[in-house]
Order: sequence, then C-alpha cells, then structure tokens
Amino acid sequence: MKLVYLFCITILLVSACQSQPDLLNLSDTVKPEAVPTIDPSNDVLYAAQQNYNKYCAHCHGWAGDGQPQVTIENAEKLGYHTVPRHDEYGHTWQHPDQILFEVVKYGIQNPTNLYPMSPYEENLSDEEIFGVVDYIKGWWTDDQRRHQANLTTQFEENNPFWADENLDEDRS
Ligand code: HEC
Repeated sequence: MKLVYLFCITILLVSACQSQPDLLNLSDTVKPEAVPTIDPSNDVLYAAQQNYNKYCAHCHGWAGDGQPQVTIENAEKLGYHTVPRHDEYGHTWQHPDQILFEVVKYGIQNPTNLYPMSPYEENLSDEEIFGVVDYIKGWWTDDQRRHQANLTTQFEENNPFWADENLDEDRS
C-alpha cells in the first residue's frame, strides 16, 4: 500500500516539474538580428559584449531594448520604473560618456526602480566600463553617435578634474 503512495507522489512531482512554464525563453524575446555582430578580432568590443551579456543584458535586454517582456501591471502607474532601453529609441544617447560611466561604476540609488541599477566597480575595471559604454553605442544611429560625441567633448571641457576624481589609475 505504501509503495502505491510513493508511486503517486513521484508521478505528481514529475508532472508538476514538467508543467513549469519556461521562465526565461530567450527565443521569444530576443531578435538575433538586433544583437550586434562583433568582429572577434576587436578585443575591446568583443570583451565588452561578453561583459554586457553577463552583467547587463538580463535587465537592459540582449538587444538593448529594455524590458519589453515585463508586464507588471500598473507598475508605472504606481510610480515604479522599469529598466530603460539603450537602443536608438531610449535616451541613453543623450548623456555624455562620463555620465554613463558614472552610472555603471557607482550605480543609481532610486527607490522607485523595480530593479535597481547596481554599482559595477567591483566587477568591471574602468577600461571595461568604457568598453561596455562603447558597445551600447552600436545600437544608436549615426546622428545620435555624433550628438553624443559632442556632449562628451563638452563635458570634458567643462569638467577638467573629472578624470582625476573618477578614474582609478588617475587617483592619487
Ligand atoms: C537589475 C537590473 C539592472 C542591471 C543588471 C543593470 N542595470 Fe543599468 N539600469 C537599471 C535601471 C533600473 C536603470 C535606471 C536608473 C534610474 O534612472 O533611476 C538603469 C540605468 C542605466 C543607465 C543609464 C541609462 C539612461 O538611458 O540614462 C546605463 C548607461 C546603464 N544602466 C548601464 C548598465 C550596464 C552597462 C549594466 C551592466 C554592467 C547595467 N546597466 C546593469 C537596471 C539595471
């Protein structure tokens, strides 16, 4: 009799496992053509893609398209923010390199974010952070890249001590 119970429980467990939906079915969410093709001989960008896919893509999207798959109803109405997209339809291109670098290095403390933007200074070197920022630029239009490059130059001119204060190798 006991064996029969054991048999039933086993069957129940197995079917429960089988009916679990796929929590992360990449084939449903990622359009392979939207993931930039990186020339493997470009060491910096190739490493940046690996880093982006490892640390960033599960929030910002493998194709830089944010979280189209997040359907937490009314989150925005309640004042919560989901994760911004990095591609040409987002606003990442409206910030100079230095600001993007700071966001990645130090993170953003914002209690209205459903998913926090963590600091990555423990995981990525300064060079790797700039690499990931450059990788993100692959999703922008030429005009956006030109505009953002001007913002970066302006920021550099207006903030002569920024590098000293923020880059590890320049810190004394
Ligand atoms: C847990 C989710 C999560 C992960 C992982 C994550 N981010 Fe973010 N990121 C966010 C959120 C949320 C914001 C918006 C923060 C705000 O504005 O309050 C953000 C903002 C940003 C911004 C500013 C975007 C803009 O348009 O202003 C950049 C750049 C950025 N993240 C890059 C990265 C990079 C690079 C990585 C990986 C090294 C990463 N993020 C990993 C959640 C995440």
